[in-house]
Amino acid sequence: MRTEKAQYVPIIIESLIFGKNSDYPLYLKSGDNYILYRSKALIFSQNDALRLKNNGVDNLYIETKDKDKYDNDIIEHMDSIIKSPDLNFEEKAVKMYIYSKVYAEYVITTGNLKDNRENVKKSVEATIEYLLMSKFAFINILNLSGYDYNEVGHGMNVSIYSMALANKLGFSNKISLYGIGLSGLTHDIGKLKISKGLLSKTEPSKNDIEEIRKHPIYSKEILTASGIDNANIINGALEHHEASNGTGYPYGKIEEDISTYGKILIITNRFDSLTRNRPYRIKLSANDALSLMEQTSELYNKAFLREFALLMSKKNYNA
Ligand SMILES: [Fe+2]
Repeated sequence: MRTEKAQYVPIIIESLIFGKNSDYPLYLKSGDNYILYRSKALIFSQNDALRLKNNGVDNLYIETKDKDKYDNDIIEHMDSIIKSPDLNFEEKAVKMYIYSKVYAEYVITTGNLKDNRENVKKSVEATIEYLLMSKFAFINILNLSGYDYNEVGHGMNVSIYSMALANKLGFSNKISLYGIGLSGLTHDIGKLKISKGLLSKTEPSKNDIEEIRKHPIYSKEILTASGIDNANIINGALEHHEASNGTGYPYGKIEEDISTYGKILIITNRFDSLTRNRPYRIKLSANDALSLMEQTSELYNKAFLREFALLMSKKNYNA
């Protein structure tokens, strides 16, 4: 009889610093093999994490059958971070960011929102909980936003900026903040349907550009296929490149036809793109990015842009 071969899933090392025993074994990957690193019931410490990082290990693995336990640990831990009297505000931000990244990374790199909806929901909600604690919460998260320059970091930043802007515009209801947060996190998920080669071309042809400009439509398709039926969330992703003056894509909608989430996302997406390093461009400072956006303000809802500039302008934070 053939025995079922164990399946493994990668986990982010930082997410293991529970300060308590994990209830499942951890593995290292070597070539095609998985080697036992820790049997269960051993505490994983900050030093263990550092040692692994120093040895060039980016991921540990758990057996797929233990994934639910791992998810529960993380979600439970997020709750305790927010409530913990022992952590200061900045420490809470760092931990929240690391834990949220676990699900952001999984969803953005695989497009599998369907199996992770509950976990993504809980991690976005925990971030909202944190954001609503004080106006300094956003600043602390902002300081972390330079951590990752990849698609995952971009999705997380756009999600966080969008929730903060929506909140500033008067969205105080946690359900709508969650909606804009999810829309921001997944806005570019449709790029998964476009080949990597095409996306990284330095001189794309007219046809290539046309295909790339369909990614918001693909994002809508993935969200719909994942069971998202909230029109605001879907329209936010679909319209994150639609400009107020009608020069955006994929449809060239004008401002009055663009949803509120879409109007928020074009601003937060553009800002994060300008302030991140790209292979072909040096990143701009927050102030330079904002003044560039103000020079092309016909692309955006002017009132939203003004609020965003207030939210992001550094002078508000140095006090
Ligand atoms: Fe995009």
